[in-house]
Amino acid sequence: MILVTGGAGFIGANFVLDWLDCSDEPVINLDKLTYAGNLGNLASLKRDTRHIFVRGDIGDRNLVLHLLSLYRPRAIVNFAAESHVDRSIHGPADFIATNIVGTFALLDAARGYWNTLTGNELAQFRFVHISTDEVYGSLEPAAAPFSETNAYAPNSPYSASKASADHLVRSYQHTYGLPTLTTNCSNNYGPRQFPEKLIPLMLYNALAGKPLPVYGDGGNVRDWLYVGDHCAAIRMVLEQGRPGETYNVGGNAEIANIDVVRTLCRVLGEQKPGCDAESLITFVKDRAGHDRRYAIDASKIRRELGWEPSETFESGIARTVAWYLDNAGWLAAVTSGEYKNWISLNYAAEVA
Ligand code: NAD
Ligand code: TYD
Repeated sequence: MILVTGGAGFIGANFVLDWLDCSDEPVINLDKLTYAGNLGNLASLKRDTRHIFVRGDIGDRNLVLHLLSLYRPRAIVNFAAESHVDRSIHGPADFIATNIVGTFALLDAARGYWNTLTGNELAQFRFVHISTDEVYGSLEPAAAPFSETNAYAPNSPYSASKASADHLVRSYQHTYGLPTLTTNCSNNYGPRQFPEKLIPLMLYNALAGKPLPVYGDGGNVRDWLYVGDHCAAIRMVLEQGRPGETYNVGGNAEIANIDVVRTLCRVLGEQKPGCDAESLITFVKDRAGHDRRYAIDASKIRRELGWEPSETFESGIARTVAWYLDNAGWLAAVTSGEYKNWISLNYAAEVA
């Protein structure tokens, strides 16, 4: 069995669902159920005994130790985090609490458990930490993509908190020998992504006939990866990755935000005839400290583990749009209550 943290969020839920599609190995899913955690993501597992859900905080060392000694997982895959840059600008404290202090508590509990293991259990144990390309900072237009040896240069409270966590993970491997692996991935998109991030927010607004708020000049560049491809990479890192290593994961899809939004509008028009979303594009005030460009050199994971993305941006976006159109109930459920408060806070009076 494996312990997944943050498995009710976007990537974690896709990981748990894909995992149980590929294998019968049970999953304990530890998630605090913040605004971003949604048990509706896991509704299809309601009667599946291979999935054990526990509501709790990765920072609760006693709870984590209890789960580890009770279930004796062979691995921990840590997705739990505060994950949205804009929220980290409005309120960094939760990012420090979960991404840094919480990861520290989880690591320390993992070390305590790992110290008790012997034989095969000891040899097999892995701690996989899911991180982001944002720890490397912003690239100049002609600079080479991020490789695993780039210096860390985080620019937002979010990326700084993830960078801190990565350093703690590294130190637990280096100092104590805990068999950790870290993945630094580019922007994910796909089913079940909370509509605060660019792609699902644009889809939600387009379907509601609301403006599509593009920050600044829309020229900021991100690399985009379909979430299922990220989950496949994590499974490979868990099974074949070398402890102590970090792996960059990316989609070979460097695209300016404005082109992401235009592609989304076109695909939406194809799948929902009559929907003219492009006319809703509105340029708004830029994000503070907005990183200009991220790009990933994923040659290490390709060379060492044989991983490559299976979706192109075009095919992944088509699948994503289809999922959101087929799951209007999911979107309606997650956009009530606190969601509306966030939208009015972040987008208040921001029209450029
Ligand atoms: P998300 O915000 O959708 O989900 C985060 C999940 O963690 C939620 O279910 C939330 O309830 C849970 N959580 C938050 N604090 C917790 C705590 N203290 N204890 C237990 N659970 C807690 O995030 P996501 O987009 O699925 O990202 C997952 C991981 O992948 C994060 O670590 C993020 O930094 C990383 N990542 C994300 C992207 C991306 O594009 N979304 C890209 C690269 C890396
Ligand atoms: P986001 O999905 O928040 O991911 P990240 O900041 O982690 O890369 O944003 C992706 C890009 O889209 C980023 O350059 C900011 C931009 N963006 C907008 O232009 N408008 C929006 O409403 C949002 C949420 C993001």
